[in-house]
Amino acid sequence: MTIFQAGILQPVPAIGRYVFFSLTAAAQGDPALLRQSLQQLAALVDGERVVAAFGQDLVQALGAEVPGLRTFPELTGPGVKAPATPVALCLWLRGQDLGELLALTRRLEKALAPALKALRVVEAFRHGKGVSGHGLDLSGYEDGTENPQEAAAVAAAFASGLGEGLDGSSYLALQQWLHDFDAFEAMSEMAQDHCMGRRRSDNEELEDAPESAHVKRTAQEDFAPEAFVLRRSMPWALHTPSGDKAGLMFAAFGCSFYAFEAQMRRMLGQDDGIVDALFRFSAPITGAYLWCPPMRDGRLDLRALSLPAQA
Ligand code: HEM
Repeated sequence: MTIFQAGILQPVPAIGRYVFFSLTAAAQGDPALLRQSLQQLAALVDGERVVAAFGQDLVQALGAEVPGLRTFPELTGPGVKAPATPVALCLWLRGQDLGELLALTRRLEKALAPALKALRVVEAFRHGKGVSGHGLDLSGYEDGTENPQEAAAVAAAFASGLGEGLDGSSYLALQQWLHDFDAFEAMSEMAQDHCMGRRRSDNEELEDAPESAHVKRTAQEDFAPEAFVLRRSMPWALHTPSGDKAGLMFAAFGCSFYAFEAQMRRMLGQDDGIVDALFRFSAPITGAYLWCPPMRDGRLDLRALSLPAQA
């Protein structure tokens, strides 16, 4: 039996829902109520159909502390910004059938009430399939090619050597990026390829891409120490009165927040003043740091939050 939430290692599902919860006033003065809701949650989370991720606010409301967990720092660079929008809890629902995920959402909401309330849901989905077998971003580029594999994926994504209740947990950086498709379509095909640093037609890396190219900004082995993460991002979409809004729900799972933050700072131009060309057609509109507890005997292991493993 795995000590990870297995959905983190698996390929992204056909359909995903990110359900964001906030603490209610009732929970803030009553940690016992919150504990009860989380015990109910632990029984419903299998780590595969549902990946659970806890924010610093929730951990603090329990009077607990998770080493390395902190609030997402608002980061800026020349003309660009990565905003911070903390959340108490995010449940990433994974499946093939939206009807099933809706029913599951209701069950989870009921288990968490009245301590936590769903604030916002982002509907996400897999789009297409690239030559390396991963899904595509809505810009048409294959996303996930340079993800670490197998043992390297486990080493990148999960904490180890921290002790029981922490080993097998994962630190998630989650950012909703909103694409500007008009700006993207106004670029030539070559300019688009140079934004990414890869050729969309065959996913080849372009050696002659400018330094602003996304894959040059984020090349994981170019950091000291190296900065590997396991990315499990999904396209998202929402219809609004002013038209469709869509982009990428960027999700980086790490053994700490170090790798994500090093990459993000370089994307923002904090290292050398060069801003990632992705910002020409996309921008993050949310940003949160979350902690995904490990599993024990097939259920969420909340011992790090001073909650017993069994209800
Ligand atoms: C709109 C948002 C984003 C889009 C559309 C996007 C898309 C892509 C694509 C198409 C690739 C190339 C293929 C691959 O290796 O997956 C890539 C690589 C990568 N991206 Fe992103 N990305 C986005 C945001 C981010 C953010 C916010 C980070 C981290 C702060 C990041 C980190 C990486 C890393 C580490 C790689 C692999 C680099 C390497 O080692 O070659 N990406 N991304």
